[in-house]
Amino acid sequence: MEQVESNKLRDSVSKEYEAKLHQQGGFCAHQFETEFGYGEEALQSLPSDAVDSSFGCANPLAMGALNPGDTVVDLGSGAGMDVILAARKVGMQGRVIGVDMTGAMIEKARRNIAEAGVDPIAEIRKGVIESLPVESSSVDWVISNCVVSLSPDKKQVFSEVFRVLKPGGKMLLSDLVVEPLPVWLRAVIALKSPASAKALDRERYLATVTASGLANVTLRSELVYDETMLHSLVMDELNIREGFWRAVLDLNGAQVLSHLLKPLVRPAVRYGANKISSIKVYAEKPL
Ligand SMILES: C[S@@+](CC[C@H](N)C(=O)[O-])C[C@H]1O[C@@H](n2cnc3c(N)ncnc32)[C@H](O)[C@@H]1O
Repeated sequence: MEQVESNKLRDSVSKEYEAKLHQQGGFCAHQFETEFGYGEEALQSLPSDAVDSSFGCANPLAMGALNPGDTVVDLGSGAGMDVILAARKVGMQGRVIGVDMTGAMIEKARRNIAEAGVDPIAEIRKGVIESLPVESSSVDWVISNCVVSLSPDKKQVFSEVFRVLKPGGKMLLSDLVVEPLPVWLRAVIALKSPASAKALDRERYLATVTASGLANVTLRSELVYDETMLHSLVMDELNIREGFWRAVLDLNGAQVLSHLLKPLVRPAVRYGANKISSIKVYAEKPL
């Protein structure tokens, strides 16, 4: 993809997530009581703002085995929820670096980290995950929650993961994958989220990880969104808070668009059901 086009796509993602900060409720991680969630205890222990501003699709640490003293990088750290949980696992001898490109998210994450009392262990660096502001071969774990699928250059992200990991270092991330969809449905998704419309299917995703040189690439688990789950996620994304005419009078473009898309939700969900999944992927950098 051309550099200009990549920058445009990243800008649209930044705007999308800045706008989400003004919405109530996160994306999907804690909606479904499955192993993909965080568990009530972990959620209760976090600053409420870190939970309310979380837009991940699963808990990447649920099956991880972070050890005290580990250095961890979180790709697309958002409001800092996973950074805080990771910092508690690695303790005072460890280090957690969140990387995000969206200014408002970074400010929020820094406040949440301080509130959670893990600021001596954790920091947020501004940057893009396609060019990580992290030293080569310095990291034990790379984690991420629902971010690589938004990148215009997923191949480059995984080569950066390879570069920053120490030999023997590990990656565990959760992300969204999408099986082939009709063109019209991709176009509808692109109206609301151009980056999400470019999500890979499962096989291409795993092949992209493998092509980076990472080894033991494993699909640890998969949560396929059925019609009911998908409907609830799509309605969350549309986030309709006011009537159509109110939105028009307020010149609220996002709300007007959500109203216009609403009649398409049922057919879109029927086509999309069982074709969109949250996956957990594990890989290692060879010794
Ligand atoms: C889906 S949210 C996930 C946030 C966080 N991981 C969580 O679970 O709440 C996406 C976050 O990734 C960031 N992001 C998306 N693409 C990025 C990129 N190419 N480089 C850096 N940050 C990115 C966005 O700014 C946003 O904060």
